[in-house]
Amino acid sequence: MKRIGMGLVGAGFVGPHHIDAVRRLGYVDVVAIAGSSNASAAAKAEQLGAARSYGNYLDLIHDPDVHVVHNATPNYLHFPVTAAAIAAGKHVVSDKPLALTPAEARELLALATKAGIVHAVTFNYRGNPLVQHARAAIAAGDIGRPHFVHGHYLQDWLLKDTDYSWRLEPDKGGVTSALGDIGSHWCDLAQHVAGLRITHVLADITTVVPVRKKPRAARNAFASAADESDVELMPMQMEDLASVLVRFDNGAKGSFSVGQVCAGHKNNLVLEICGSTSTMTWRQEAQNELWIGHRDRANERLQKDPSLMNDAGRGYAHLPGGHQEAWSDAFMNVMRDIYGFIAAGKKPSDTHPPAFATFADGYRANCLVDAMLKSAAAGSVWTEVKE
Ligand SMILES: NC(=O)c1ccc[n+]([C@@H]2O[C@H](COP(=O)([O-])OP(=O)(O)OC[C@H]3O[C@@H](n4cnc5c(N)ncnc54)[C@H](O)[C@@H]3O)[C@@H](O)[C@H]2O)c1
Repeated sequence: MKRIGMGLVGAGFVGPHHIDAVRRLGYVDVVAIAGSSNASAAAKAEQLGAARSYGNYLDLIHDPDVHVVHNATPNYLHFPVTAAAIAAGKHVVSDKPLALTPAEARELLALATKAGIVHAVTFNYRGNPLVQHARAAIAAGDIGRPHFVHGHYLQDWLLKDTDYSWRLEPDKGGVTSALGDIGSHWCDLAQHVAGLRITHVLADITTVVPVRKKPRAARNAFASAADESDVELMPMQMEDLASVLVRFDNGAKGSFSVGQVCAGHKNNLVLEICGSTSTMTWRQEAQNELWIGHRDRANERLQKDPSLMNDAGRGYAHLPGGHQEAWSDAFMNVMRDIYGFIAAGKKPSDTHPPAFATFADGYRANCLVDAMLKSAAAGSVWTEVKE
């Protein structure tokens, strides 16, 4: 099999998981890492076993051995890094969000389409075996017609006023926090599994922690200030809690809440789809189980066991029942779908395998969040999602 060269821009928290995932495919070489300086890039390259390092992402993009550029930089760099990679004719895997605004995301989609490169966004919960099982089962009519899609994505990493991240600074993270960072995951998953599109939203957004203490010392993306005397007080402009009513294109109704200030919840993503005959519930924190509820017979708990799953789900499971698969395995499944597509020489317009979200999906996520922010700003009114 022809080998494919991968280059990673931004090796902070999630970047190394991109490397881990592509290495597991067997035919991808991790060619280079680009960081914010020569020194940090060289240190990361040594740590992660990449042959080359660059202090400037343009040098990585123009490395002839890099065929696919992975963009795992802070949100404000998504547009320039991705646009430069497209201009150089490289395939791009962008972490979410695709861009800071719908306008930027639309431009990236247009540029990628025109250049004919393969483009992907990591909505990685799609890669879970039971997610794909549920999606195929719902498409086959197993729960009847979906009429209620609801759930939440709750975290607690921003509960304290000493919790801080670049994600909270509009020039780096964008104008949204909870909705953009985790609401985008929930919406992509809900639409993907239900096979529906959200058409209208009504959002109520809140900033629970109005002022945060930003540590003056350099720190990683999720840590709290170690020394409270060396902090800068930062007024918060973006939501850390939100509840949204949603309407789908088949007439189904729904709702979800997102929060980064909910003690005890780490990555508590829950999606439930109620149909005319049955219900399916998937919980990210117990991802090897799917709850299936019935009216006229006993409810079921389906374990992630390839021998019990449908063909669609089985294709994403790699271990026998009883052995747990998790976040990193789902992330690898996403990369397997993307790189399999590239390796097969498919055209971007060809049908994509399901765990592979494209820039069109990334653009849609930007539009959804934008509609939610507009709804909230107008006093929580129903707002159409416009693309
Ligand atoms: N798909 C997911 O589930 C998931 C999970 C976490 C993060 N993310 C996304 O991934 C992105 C990165 O998040 P993170 O948590 O890894 O952040 P992070 O702060 O841990 O990592 C960002 C890295 O980019 C580097 N960087 C900054 N400027 C750079 C430049 N000019 N050139 C090259 N590198 C540069 C930083 O030094 C850092 O190492 C975000 O957009 C985030 O939304 C997605």
